[in-house]
This record gives sequence, C-alpha cells and structure tokens, in this order.
Amino acid sequence: MRSHYCGELNETHLGQELDICGWVHRRRDHGGVIFIDLRDREGLVQVVFDPDQPEAFKLAESARSEYVLKVHGKVRRRPSGTENPNMPTGAVEVFGTGLEILNKAETPPFPVESEIEVNEETRLRYRYIDLRRPLMQQRIRMRRDITRQLRSFLDDEGFYEIETPFLTKATPEGARDYLVPSRTHENAFFALPQSPQLYKQLLMISGMDRYYQVVRCFRDEDLRADRQPEFTQLDIETSFMNEDQIMGVMEEMIRKLFDEVLHEPLPNPFPRLTYAEAMRRFASDKPDLRIPLELVDVADLLQAVDFKVFAGPANDPDGRVVALKLPNGNELSRKQIDELTQFVGIYGAKGLAYVKVNDLAAGLEGLQSPILKFMPEAAINAILQRTEAKTGDLIFFGADKAKIVNEAMGALRVKLGHDCGLVERGWKPLWVTDFPMFEWDDKANRWTAIHHPFTSPNCSQEELVANPGKALSRAYDMVLNGTELGGGSIRIHRTDLQSAVFDLLGIGEEEANRKFGFLLTALKYGAPPHGGIAFGMDRLVMLMTGASSIREVMAFPKTQSAWCPLFDAPAPVSELQLRELGIKLRKPPKGQAEGGE
Ligand code: AMO
Ligand code: AMP
Repeated sequence: MRSHYCGELNETHLGQELDICGWVHRRRDHGGVIFIDLRDREGLVQVVFDPDQPEAFKLAESARSEYVLKVHGKVRRRPSGTENPNMPTGAVEVFGTGLEILNKAETPPFPVESEIEVNEETRLRYRYIDLRRPLMQQRIRMRRDITRQLRSFLDDEGFYEIETPFLTKATPEGARDYLVPSRTHENAFFALPQSPQLYKQLLMISGMDRYYQVVRCFRDEDLRADRQPEFTQLDIETSFMNEDQIMGVMEEMIRKLFDEVLHEPLPNPFPRLTYAEAMRRFASDKPDLRIPLELVDVADLLQAVDFKVFAGPANDPDGRVVALKLPNGNELSRKQIDELTQFVGIYGAKGLAYVKVNDLAAGLEGLQSPILKFMPEAAINAILQRTEAKTGDLIFFGADKAKIVNEAMGALRVKLGHDCGLVERGWKPLWVTDFPMFEWDDKANRWTAIHHPFTSPNCSQEELVANPGKALSRAYDMVLNGTELGGGSIRIHRTDLQSAVFDLLGIGEEEANRKFGFLLTALKYGAPPHGGIAFGMDRLVMLMTGASSIREVMAFPKTQSAWCPLFDAPAPVSELQLRELGIKLRKPPKGQAEGGE
C-alpha cells in the first residue's frame, strides 16, 4: 500500500512521487489550502492539498482527526520561512495529488498528543488510542530496542533461549499464585509460574549450560508503581560459573545495553556493597547512590543518656539509633519538619528528633532542638563530631527497633534527596551481596528465605543448621538508581543441603516431597554447580525511558487493582464452564440465588 513511512521523509526524498499511509494527526484549513499532519509509527509529515486537485481536496476537507488515509503525492521543499526545525520531517512536505480515506474515526476520547491529562482508567480502556501517542510509541520502540540488544548479547555469549511452561506448579517467590483449574484432572490446579526458577535449574541439570528467556511471570501481590501481576523477566541461568563470573558477564551486558541504546557510560566494574553495609549506610538493600546522604550509627553514644526515646533502642540488641545529616538543612521550617515527622510516621516511627546547627562555634547556644534539654553536652558534641556537622546543617534522628528505623530513615533519606534537589544526574548501578539466608517471621514463627529456598548458603551445611539466623547466602542483587533491577544467586546443587534448607524453612519431608520431590530427585542425577539471575524487564525499560511507572512501558498493563479496563478482565464465567471444571462458587455471582445450580 505504501512506499514510505511518513516519519522517514526528508530532503533526500525531494522530488519523489510516493505513497504514504497513516492517521490524521491534525488538519488545518488555511483559506483555500488544507494541511494535514499525517502520522504513522515513524513520525509525522505535513501533507498539503490545494483546490487544483479538486478530488483529493474535497476528500481532504472531509478528513477528521484519526481518520486513516492513503496519500499519493510528491515530496517538495517547504517554502522558506515555514520549515519546522522541531520535526525530523520539518524541511519538507508532501504535495497531495491523490487521497483515499481508508477508514473514518469517531472523535477519540482524548487527543493523541504526547502530553495529556487523562485518568489512567480511560487511557487503559482505550489503550489502542493511548499507544498511538508519540511518547508511548517511543517507549514501546525503546523496549523493543532493549530486548533486541539483550538477546543479541546473550546469543553471542552462547546462551540458548528456551521456553518453559506456563501451566505448572507453584514456584515460591514470595507472592500468591495465580491458579488455573484443570478440566481433565478433577480437583487439581495448575499454578502460573512466579518465575521459571525450577525449570531453569532443571535445564542446567539437563546440560544446557547457558539458558535465557524473556518470559512472563505471574504474581498475585499488592501492586505498586513498580509491580504488576504479570510482568516480564529476562531470566538467566549458567552452569560451572561462580558468582563473580556471573556478575561480571551480567554487568557487561547491562553496560553494553546502556552504551548501545542510550549512549551512556556505566562504571566498570559496578561498585559492590554487602547487604550489611548497605543497611548501615543507607538503611536500604536497594540504595539510590545518586543521593549523597548517609546514615550514621550513634547508639553507642546514647546508651547512658536519660532520654528514654534514645537510650531504650540504644541498649536493645534489636534496636538502632541513627543520625541523618542534611547539609544546609537548618533552613527547614517548623512546618516542613512536622510534615517530615508525619512522613516517617507512615513507616511506624514514633517521632523525628532533630538538631539544627545554627552556629557550630557557639556550642550549645548555637544549637536549636527539642531534645537538647534531655541530652548531656558530651553526647551532643560526640554526635556533632561523628556526623561532621557544620554550621547550617540539620541532623535528624531515628530511634526504634532496627526494622522501623531502617524503613523510616531509609525512606526519609530518599525523600530529602528528592525534595531538596540533591539527586545527582546519571546512572548509579551497584551490586548488593552477602544477603542473610533467612529472615525470622514472627507471625508464622519460622524462618523464611530472603531470596528463595534454592539459594546456596556461603557456609557449610553444619554451620547453616547450627546458626540459621547468622548464615549469609550466595545471592546478589543488581540495583540501579534505587530500583532493584535484578536478583540472583548460586543455587544449591546437592540433595542433602536442599533438604536441610527445606527443613529449616519448616517444610517437612512429606511436604517437600509433595511440592519439590521432582527437584530433590533431579539433584541426585548429576546436578552441576549452577547459578543465575533474573532482571525485571519492565523496571529496566521504565528507568531507561524515564517513565514514572512500569505501566507506562507495558503495552497492556493492569490497573493498581489488577484489573484490565479494556477487556474488563477478570470476569465471571458461565455455569457450564464452571461445571466442566468441577467448580462451585462459594459466593454465587450477584443476582443469582444461593445454591442455584
Ligand atoms: P526476583 O523475585 O527477585 O527473583 O525477581 C527478579 C526481578 O523481577 C522483577 N520483579 C517484578 N517486576 C514487576 N512486577 C513484579 N511484580 C515483580 N516482581 C519481581 C524485579 C526483580 O529484581 N527466580 C528469581 C531469580 C533468580 O534467582 O535467578 C526471581 O524471580 O526487577
Ligand atoms: P517526646 O519526648 O515524645 O516529646 O519527643 C521528643 C522529641 O523526640 C520530638 O522531637 C520527637 O519527634 C522525637 N522522637 C520521639 N520518638 C522518637 C523516635 N522513636 N525516634 C526519633 N525521634 C523521636
């Protein structure tokens, strides 16, 4: 139908007769001449119709926004003074001699412009129109460029792309499963994979050596800006490589990606932080290193003070007391500090003590703070010294159980970074390593795996069993600008160690065999040492396009309540379908009598 894309035309096409197809982006009537900006995937071009071509002109008069047109015409230079340097095609225009209206369109529910203010539900209901917006087209194109570059790197490195099933059994990654009832096996359900974790390990046992897959994962969890119920991983596994080698290849891949797609250099090598150091300095296992603020532990200076708010956590083995210095922060108003106190309250902090350093040289007189009266001068001086406070600074304090302090002060650090304009430009990737193996779950009264139950400890089985709370794992996360991009680990490749870990997690022998018997058996038949990683593709594309949420870089995302307004899914199904599946609803659909079969 067409010989060229609208968006590709430029001065090299001057004088050519050609056919283009696309959507009416804008139509302007200029006293006897009609201008149509015709849009396709590659961009816009201006088409001109004048009354000397009466047939085409008449049709052009009737064209409206989003009509689909085919134009025959000749490329010519725009008259001098009417060029548009902001448009790649802005030096030329197409003089239209033929016009065919391929389809009409109703007035769209919102304009097809990059910048629009429309609620998300409307955008998602009419996603096919939303995706026509140049900004969305750019994002989807960048997503394609990114996947293509990653695939090509992995192909060159000898990885096989292998597909794994969606209809499968639960894979524990910490979320709820999406279940699919089986018609042919009564009372039985498939689970959609939370990740292909177990399949990729089996592929290593199969001798595939290097595997990857761009793969959908399904997790029924509470949604946020960077989480969706189905999302895409770049899933990777290798045999006979240790963690340094795996991290080396993976950061090479990401460096190359940023170089090829964004022409931006990333550090070589990526810095590494242990989990303990990340928590100590940034109170986060995914620190945003663009923010030049760090926490300073001060518990040891406050164990003997009378102020219970500090002394309590300072003497509690599970407690933590930290200072966070905001350079030039003494300009913050009372109201601003009250707002920040409310903000940390969201994370469970009971308050936000602070000291304003108005004049360091003036001693106590130069300080302003609601807690000065509770604190000995020596403790205050020691804190000023340790935080290297200067005149003009403000020091915040967090004191509580370590978990609360970390969540509250970690979030405060990020908020201050953004609010005070301290976020540095550019990309700050890093690896976080040496995670603990387990976390104690108070409610369930048992250990849970921090990564997943297939992650190898970096100690012996005996040490692990003797002290599970102290054991570290061979897991690593790649973090970029405060977002966890990917996570992986060296896996357990011996049955006895895998069984011991299940046991520590409170998964008894019977349950382990029922859920993971196939893995325990497979590990007995010559499992090689192996390990891998999975990247969140949506998050990667979000960061690289500068989008504010992963929904902005997925063609058809769900809403925050895991609903698709376009298809109106999920939706009720017919009684017949339920009957075939052997399912009876506990709460019948609205408007249907209880027990009405
Ligand atoms: P993990 O659970 O850390 O590891 O997931 C890997 C990466 O996937 C992304 N991600 C998500 N993205 C969008 N929406 C979600 N709901 C979501 N959940 C996770 C994140 C995360 O870093 N099998 C292991 C990997 C391995 O050990 O090799 C796994 O799935 O960017
Ligand atoms: P209070 O004794 O509750 O009046 O608190 C005195 C100061 O300490 C106030 O500025 C509170 O915001 C602050 N504060 C109270 N609890 C905490 C806490 N757990 N961590 C940090 N600051 C706190």
